Amino acid sequence: MNRTWLVAGLLAVLGIGGWMVWQSITPSGNEGSSASQKSGGAAGATEPGSPLAEVKLPATLSPQAEMGRRIFEAKCATCHGQNAAGQAGVAPPLVHQIYRPAHHADIAFVLAAKNGVQAHHWNFGNMPPVEAITEGEVKLIVRYIRELQQANGIR
Ligand code: HEC
Repeated sequence: MNRTWLVAGLLAVLGIGGWMVWQSITPSGNEGSSASQKSGGAAGATEPGSPLAEVKLPATLSPQAEMGRRIFEAKCATCHGQNAAGQAGVAPPLVHQIYRPAHHADIAFVLAAKNGVQAHHWNFGNMPPVEAITEGEVKLIVRYIRELQQANGIR
């Protein structure tokens, strides 16, 4: 074994040691862009509770959607946020490509309210079943969400 190998070996040990020290002193958790994207849903919005989507409001809502909006605000907005724009650290925006009709049909909303949702698309945790809501009410909410989606180019 010559000196070059010895030096290379030493540097490797120092490198690994330094990396381990670095790992132990840097805060783990939601720091760093990849981690905050995972936990916050959309990029950028990291303040807990801040909206995750920019939602353009349609000029008018149909009467059914207007009723749906009121029910949504009473039963869903605490988590999914004003205008279904989501809330960082709480719940995803429903005005989002993931929830377009072809990917989450109306029945997905009915089932979500009735049975709750196992976290699978995001890292917000599970959605509990929504108490005291009828299928008819959820369908009005769906009208509202679909009209918001359409106003935002999600079809
Ligand atoms: C306690 C918070 C909370 C409330 C209240 C809530 N949700 Fe959710 N919802 C969530 C979370 C968190 C998810 C994301 C689950 C995941 O990771 O996919 C979710 C997901 C969904 C989904 C996606 C379902 C799927 O199949 O992927 C729909 C649709 C939905 N919610 C509709 C509603 C409606 C409608 C209401 C009101 C009647 C409501 N939510 C109330 C937290 C909530």
